[in-house]
This record gives sequence, structure tokens and C-alpha cells, in this order.
Amino acid sequence: MARIITVTSGKGGVGKTSISLNLSLALASQGFKVCLFDADLGLANVNILTGIYPKKDLGHVISGQFNLNEVIIRDYQGIDIIPGSSGIQKIADLTRTETGTLISAFLDLDEYDYFIFDTSAGISSQVLSFCMASHEIVLVATCEPTSLTDAYSMLKVLSRYGYDSPIRVIINQVTSGKAAKKAYAHLKTTVNRFLDVRIVPLGIVASDKNVQAAVISQTPFWMLFPDTVASKCIKNICEKLVFNAVSSGDMQLELFWDKCLRFLEKHRRPEDFLEKDPAQPSGDKTAEDLQIKTALSQMESKLSLLMEEVKQIKMMLQHPKNISPETPSPPPEPREISIDFEAWMEKKYK
Ligand SMILES: Nc1ncnc2c1ncn2[C@@H]1O[C@H](COP(=O)(O)OP(=O)(O)OP(=O)(O)O)[C@@H](O)[C@H]1O
Ligand SMILES: [Mg+2]
Repeated sequence: MARIITVTSGKGGVGKTSISLNLSLALASQGFKVCLFDADLGLANVNILTGIYPKKDLGHVISGQFNLNEVIIRDYQGIDIIPGSSGIQKIADLTRTETGTLISAFLDLDEYDYFIFDTSAGISSQVLSFCMASHEIVLVATCEPTSLTDAYSMLKVLSRYGYDSPIRVIINQVTSGKAAKKAYAHLKTTVNRFLDVRIVPLGIVASDKNVQAAVISQTPFWMLFPDTVASKCIKNICEKLVFNAVSSGDMQLELFWDKCLRFLEKHRRPEDFLEKDPAQPSGDKTAEDLQIKTALSQMESKLSLLMEEVKQIKMMLQHPKNISPETPSPPPEPREISIDFEAWMEKKYK
């Protein structure tokens, strides 16, 4: 039995992987046994942030080539990691035998206190199946209107499918505490007004240059810069997570997979989740257009993320002292950001 937490967002590049990885390490540092499941098919996934490029992944487990214990990465800085990789695409289309292989693979796995699922960007059938199967969801957003809109779209789909546990929100890349509170308050008001899901604040993570420096060094910022402001925010979030479980408690991993695969069986096509425009003719052409549009917008967001990272790498190379662990750059505006904005929100909404 473990607490199973799915980290999702809607929009890509908002910090799901950074938060999943560093939060897993923070939980492990408190003595919990943690398994991070890399269900992110994106560019900046756990491999990039850790510098580990596994040759075997969940796809090999599904096809029966290896068992899960051969695929799992043991004790990376105190946590275990399951590389999802090609297996994540496969799970949407499993045969009966493969479904059986996948579920029974998890029967032999060690006991964990926490299972953290880091998902890909976008509202795909796989991401939704992970969300719907888990008792706890952490939704990551930034203060940007596009991120908030996409977070809202994700909540809308979860609401439509009857997700009934409170969903916890992290506002990431925060440059001002005031802006973070405003962004959260806006999301909360809209959700309360129009949707049947409940959101609760989990915390914020400040925008911190050391997060990017850690990406370049391929070492999690929790390890490289334990005192940087982003690590302090993660510590705060970790403590809240440990002391306030929002769900009905722990869950069997086989039950999780069973729920996940049942959901996928029922809702395979991504267009199922998207709003249908009544003015548009229905049929395969519209569905195909929607798929192409979704893929294009995901590529667009990846490309701009990549360009931004290249720019940052260039800057770092020109000023190498910024990437040295001995000389971490000063945390940005630490005093302006109240790490614990939960109390503020509670006061406002009680
Ligand atoms: N708090 C932060 N401060 C500064 N930079 C950040 C912060 N959080 C994330 N980033 C940067 O944003 C970029 C995207 O982060 P990350 O890969 O974690 O996002 P993601 O949501 O997992 O993306 P994807 O949707 O592609 O999987 C990375 O370059 C990371 O360094
Ligand atoms: Mg990611």
C-alpha cells in the first residue's frame, strides 16, 4: 500500500518533472521509501534532469522481455525510478495478455510509502488515466494566463469524469508572492463557479536560477543547492504533503493499474476529452484535425521551451560561475515571497 500521487498540469514546461523529482528526493530525505514513475514522454524528462539514460523501460516489461525488477533504477540519491518511456504510449493499446503482464509485474514490486507519477504535457488518454486512477493529484501551474487556462481545461475534464478527491495546486516559477496568490485565487473562483471538483493550495515554488543551473549539471537542485529558495519551497510542500493526505488513504498498486487500464479501455481516443464544437461537422476528419492541432500546439510549446533552454545554456557557458555548486547565485527576491500561502488562502476562503 502506498500513497499514489499523479503530477499533472495541462500546459507543458511548467515544472512537473522538476517538482516530481525534487519532491521525491525531499520525501526520501524524511525517511520515506519513494518510487518515481517517469510517465513523461517529453523532452525534459527525468533522464535529462538526472543524467541517467536507461536502456530498458516499461515497454520491455509489457512485451515480456524483462521483469520490472530488472528495469527499475535503484537508489538514485535514495529513490527508485521506473522509466516509463515507450511503455507509456503502449499502455493505451494493450492486448489482454499485455494487460495481465503489466498488472502482475507490479505484484512483485517492493513496498513503497509514495509513488509519484510524473506525467506528460497535454490532456491525453494516458495522462487522464493516471489522474483518474490515483487518489491524489498535484496540479502544477504558473502565473501565466495560458498555463492557468490549460490547468482549468484539465480540471474541467477531471470534473466531467467525476474525479472526487480534492486536487492540490502548486504555483511554480513564482516571481512575486502577490501574483501567485492572485493566480490561485482566480483559478479557485472560476473552478468553484463552474466545476464539480475541489482545488486546494499545496504551495508555491519560486522562480530560481539555480533550478536551471541544476538542469545543466544534470543533478537535482535539491541535491546541488539544498539552501536555495526553490529547495526551501519543496521542503515546505513536502511537509504539507506528509501531514495532510487529502484522499481516503493508501492504495494497492495493482488496483491503481487496474483502474488506469479500465479507464483507457473505455476512453482511448483523445478527442473524447475535448469539447466538441457544435458548428463543426462530426466524424473522423474533425477528430483527425483535433489530434493534429493538439500535436502541433504541444510541439510549439516544446520548441519554445527548447529555445529558451538553449538561450540559458549559452548564458551559463558565458558566465560559468553560475553553474558551479560552490557559488550558487543568490535566490531571487526571497523576502517578497511568502512560501506558505496556504494560510493566506484559507483565511480568504473561510
Ligand atoms: N521554479 C523554477 N525556477 C526556474 N526555472 C524553473 C522552475 N521550475 C522549472 N523550471 C524550468 O522550466 C523548464 C521546464 O521544467 P520541467 O521540465 O520540470 O517542466 P515540465 O512541466 O515537466 O515539462 P514537460 O511538460 O515538457 O514535461 C526547465 O528548464 C526548468 O529548469
Ligand atoms: Mg516533464
